[in-house]
Amino acid sequence: MVQSVRGVIARSKGAPVEMETILVPDPSPGEALVAIQACGVCHTDLHYREGAINDEFPFLLGHEAAGIVEAVGPGVDEVAPGDFVIINWRAVCGQCRSCARGRSQYCFATHNANQPMTLADGTKLSPALGIGAFVEKTLVAAGQATKVNPEASAAAAGLLGCGVMAGLGAAMTTGGVGRGDSVAVFGCGGVGDAAIEGARLAGASTIVAVDIDDRKLEWARQFGATHTVNSRESDPVEAIRELTGGNGVDVAIEAIGLPETYRQCFEARDLAGTVVLVGVPNPTATIELPFIEVFGRGGALKSSWYGDCLPSRDFPMLIDLYLQGRLNLDGFVSETIALDEVEEAFHKMECGEVLRSVVVMD
Ligand code: APR
Ligand code: ZN
Ligand code: ZN
Repeated sequence: MVQSVRGVIARSKGAPVEMETILVPDPSPGEALVAIQACGVCHTDLHYREGAINDEFPFLLGHEAAGIVEAVGPGVDEVAPGDFVIINWRAVCGQCRSCARGRSQYCFATHNANQPMTLADGTKLSPALGIGAFVEKTLVAAGQATKVNPEASAAAAGLLGCGVMAGLGAAMTTGGVGRGDSVAVFGCGGVGDAAIEGARLAGASTIVAVDIDDRKLEWARQFGATHTVNSRESDPVEAIRELTGGNGVDVAIEAIGLPETYRQCFEARDLAGTVVLVGVPNPTATIELPFIEVFGRGGALKSSWYGDCLPSRDFPMLIDLYLQGRLNLDGFVSETIALDEVEEAFHKMECGEVLRSVVVMD
């Protein structure tokens, strides 16, 4: 039976989002139908709306979500009706050359639901990041739904589905931050603050937050930054060297996606240190680095896809840490809003007023 639900779509480039009736089919083999409880508003949703990702309008927006499995298709045994799940956009295939080598966190053939969700007139929707979760019920591949402890708040848990996971993983997994490490995080939005939170959780003893907005630096302190640098007022590379005995940090994390701040990360890093790029660059940007320094400084220049997370490994563990009071996820929820307030939330995000607005379904 096809169900009619309410959802938020972007119909054409730059146009305000619209609330529409969405038709969601029953799950076929390998799929799960999830009743969404909460979904965060992410820059990527706005990028879809602006036509910056592709032209496959109309988009069903939303992708940082948690909810309850309502039904599963034949052959699905990962999740069952009633499970509280976080939705991810990297359902690993288990068979590609990366999975076959035991590196399924990098799976090169992740999958989504096979059947489309549509508008009432049959127009197929392109779901954001293969999810589409500003909607009362969504259809995903079963591997996109990861069961976690249902005691967690849905608004906080859903954020692990995208930006917060990217930041936590950039520090904990890609950067391999460990006890006593010094870390610098450039850009203190939701992703950068999550990297700060991840560095704190992993035992970093010095965490320097860099941003051009003092309000963001204040929030960064609440997540565990031990020092802050406003890079409009002072040179962040010099400031970081001063804070680290003249040496630079063990791990420098770029959470903006700009060549200029990437270079600052490169320079603010100690010998044999690691640079992690988790900010997404503009497709036309290029970088120039002194080649001898790339060699001479040693260490590693890494990129972090979705925090190099493996949802089945990381989501339940991080939710347990959250429920124990050791991981501050609630701090990322700046406000909860209704499904028809996504457009306003985009404006607040553009003005830097929020880390995350989170839609909570009534
Ligand atoms: N130097 C330092 N900080 C900067 C600079 C700069 N030149 N330019 C912007 N910033 C700061 C902003 O003030 C803001 O606090 O970077 C932060 C970026 O945060 P958000 O815009 O809230 O973005 P966020 O959701 O954290 O995502 C960051 O990660 O996943 C990617 O696509 C995402 O590229 C984006 C990045
Ligand atoms: Zn794979
Ligand atoms: Zn996102």
